[in-house]
Amino acid sequence: MIGVLVSGTGTNLQALLDARLPVSAVASNRRDAPALARARDLPTEAFELRDYENRAARDAAMADWLHAHGVRIVVLAGYMHLLTPAFLERFPDAVVNVHPSLLPAFPGAHAVEEQLAAGVAESGATVHLVDEGIDSGPILAQERVPVRANDTPETLHARIKEIEHALLPRVVGELCAR
Ligand code: GRF
Repeated sequence: MIGVLVSGTGTNLQALLDARLPVSAVASNRRDAPALARARDLPTEAFELRDYENRAARDAAMADWLHAHGVRIVVLAGYMHLLTPAFLERFPDAVVNVHPSLLPAFPGAHAVEEQLAAGVAESGATVHLVDEGIDSGPILAQERVPVRANDTPETLHARIKEIEHALLPRVVGELCAR
């Protein structure tokens, strides 16, 4: 069973659901994340940092909740918080993230803007296993997209997301089968 963590609009969650992967629960660090509405009748829960003593306590509660829903693989689909060891140790080698650049280039929350500012000719999407770093961890799959002269952060991100929506379900499906 797959647990998906979201913070934003949830188009990658939608791609996982459309691919009919066995998603059993969806959690967020934000109660108001629009992505939660995409979960429809799946169990959802928000784990806001301010409701806990610290990050480790929040992550332990989130891991408990995911385990209670049978989750063995965790997918970060636009989840915008770092996970603590308290969480990662509960799902060894089974937490994956999707990121809008050709990692290890351009990690972090502003990858699309930074790629345009740097004038790169090519961008892409990366799916990787998650460790304690920012968008680090072993790369599982990558695909390239061209950057166009008139791209804005919005047009480039939209092109990258199209790639993500195929790449992420494929890699997660492979992980489920291993
Ligand atoms: C994606 O571009 C993903 O790579 C990044 O955050 C974005 C999430 O988009 N980590 P969405 O919420 O899945 O639409």
